[in-house]
Amino acid sequence: MKKFEISTAHPYEICIGEGIMSESGNLISTVLEPCKIAIITDTNVNGLYSQVFLTSLIEKGFEVSKIIFPAGEHSKNMTTYGNVLEALADEGISRSDVIASLGGGVVGDISGFAAATYMRGIKYIQIPTTYISSIDASVGGKTGINLLSGKNLAGAFWQPSMVICDPKVFESLPAGQLLEGASEAIKMGICSDGSLIPKVLDKDYLYVIERAVSIKKSIVEADELDTGLRQILNFGHTVGHCIEKASAYSISHGQAVAKGMAAEAKACAAMGFTSVDVYDEIVSILSEAGFDLSIPFSGEELYSYALLDKKISYGKITITVPDRIGQSHLSKISLLDLKVFFDSAV
Ligand code: GLY
Repeated sequence: MKKFEISTAHPYEICIGEGIMSESGNLISTVLEPCKIAIITDTNVNGLYSQVFLTSLIEKGFEVSKIIFPAGEHSKNMTTYGNVLEALADEGISRSDVIASLGGGVVGDISGFAAATYMRGIKYIQIPTTYISSIDASVGGKTGINLLSGKNLAGAFWQPSMVICDPKVFESLPAGQLLEGASEAIKMGICSDGSLIPKVLDKDYLYVIERAVSIKKSIVEADELDTGLRQILNFGHTVGHCIEKASAYSISHGQAVAKGMAAEAKACAAMGFTSVDVYDEIVSILSEAGFDLSIPFSGEELYSYALLDKKISYGKITITVPDRIGQSHLSKISLLDLKVFFDSAV
């Protein structure tokens, strides 16, 4: 098992190892006093792993309850969030009790936001069960839900007390789910470490997770609250989130980010921020990984959704510009230029 110490304002460990799900109780007991643990999970994950996880907690003397909501991005809304808060109260969860988030990005984001706000904040543990959430969402404490107007528009920064990542659980994931993770991993490769890309294409999951977590650790430690360097990780997301919204979330996050990376690189090349060669290389990597890079929406429609992007501040937005594979920088552009950006991207 490998451990990464994340030195944020509330530091925590990320434990990564094949088969460690069944040792969760032991690991968690190193950071928590005896308490009630409310497992929050979805209808897909519940039948797959919740029993192993629950048993290991009970063996360590934790009192356990379970809150289950329907799987899928459509659940990441005010209704599910409200239901989870009510369920926590019904279960008698107190300030000294803890939430365990067992699932992918949607479960992690909702559970984390519930933990950040229930009784003004309680502890939570993240147990990511997808490749994509192990690489990205479970690290760094971004929590939240979608509003009708757009993706992740309500939320909080709330770091977990521990992250337990067992890549063995990915064995049950369909190929499309694994491609979701490849999207975020390729993003990290393009922005921060070109040597990660061949490992992603070779499907070396354990290596990719450990390297991606190590990259994200240094970024999050430098900019926990996403006011600077961390915005590098938004490469592909400015356009990608708009694609998700325009498709009413029928295009998944990973697929939308892959389309978004190609589109943003195209716009950066068209506007002279990067070279056409970099754009070509990005398209070639994403195509080799198996992504469909077509975008079934106009630049104008996508731009209308971008106007609610959280990165907009004082009439400007920060975009990530890929300089070459493995290196990128941030650039602030006006909303007028953002319109040109979207028109050039699609
Ligand atoms: N998912 C991007 C971040 O955590 O900043």
